[in-house]
Amino acid sequence: MSEPSNALAGKVIIVTGAGGGIGSETVRGAVDRGGSVVAMDLAGAGLDQTASLDGVVALEGDVTSTADWERVLAAAIDSFGTVDGLVNNAGIEGAITPLIEYPEAMFDRVLDVNVKGVWLGMKIVGPTMLDKGAGAIVNLASVAGLGGASNLSAYSASKHAVIGLSKSAALEMAPSGVRVNAVCPSPIDTRMMRSLEESMKSDDLDLDTMQQLIAASIPLGRYGQPSEVGDLICFLLSDDAKFLSGAAIPIDGAMKAR
Ligand SMILES: NC(=O)c1ccc[n+]([C@@H]2O[C@H](COP(=O)([O-])OP(=O)(O)OC[C@H]3O[C@@H](n4cnc5c(N)ncnc54)[C@H](O)[C@@H]3O)[C@@H](O)[C@H]2O)c1
Repeated sequence: MSEPSNALAGKVIIVTGAGGGIGSETVRGAVDRGGSVVAMDLAGAGLDQTASLDGVVALEGDVTSTADWERVLAAAIDSFGTVDGLVNNAGIEGAITPLIEYPEAMFDRVLDVNVKGVWLGMKIVGPTMLDKGAGAIVNLASVAGLGGASNLSAYSASKHAVIGLSKSAALEMAPSGVRVNAVCPSPIDTRMMRSLEESMKSDDLDLDTMQQLIAASIPLGRYGQPSEVGDLICFLLSDDAKFLSGAAIPIDGAMKAR
């Protein structure tokens, strides 16, 4: 692998869900490229390892809480003086069940975390970037935001909404020089996929066979790695992407090329 560039040198980035698969690799990618990071996740969600990296301040918080977002923003300003980037990565898969059987409380929770969490992040952190006339926001959508997903109706709806929020914010924030993009990964090798596989397996379909079927549904023939998504996010945060805004970018081994 080539050496990471200094593309994020001097930049301060907030990453949510930073203890998870894609979040922790995004934090690692950002500090490797010279950035400083405020890493946020729920208590007990694996922030310890991320927190031990140089240039990282870790904070427990829930993306659905306005008060927690205000604490995260204050931590970025107190520790590093500003904010240049925001990665709304926290997300949950919810239940894996047909729409007509989907539990209402779970539907509400998925929309709360995956949609309201992203909206609150942009609403509370956005003004700091708008005031300075520069910044980049990256929101985690999914290939399930580009088309339907059987038995994942709430998740798919939430990821479609993330794309709508991202494009709307891109239009609103462009005059102030703030860019907003969504990334749309296919299955990526993290806890979330292990949970989805667990719920999908049956007496007729063991875990190995199912993983092979999922990999075969991706033209490049494999799951993506969380670091590969982290690399794309870091590119979007950097000035190398300075004319890229309002996009929903698949990172999916050509899954959505069909
Ligand atoms: N893994 C995949 O196949 C895949 C594919 C497409 C999109 N995504 C999206 O990428 C993002 C990261 O997923 P991942 O695969 O790394 O999963 P993950 O479960 O490893 O990480 C998600 C992180 O979000 C955190 N989180 C959940 N609810 C939160 C809340 N209310 N407040 C703060 N943090 C919260 C979790 O604690 C966890 O650390 C998610 O938005 C997910 O929907 C993942």
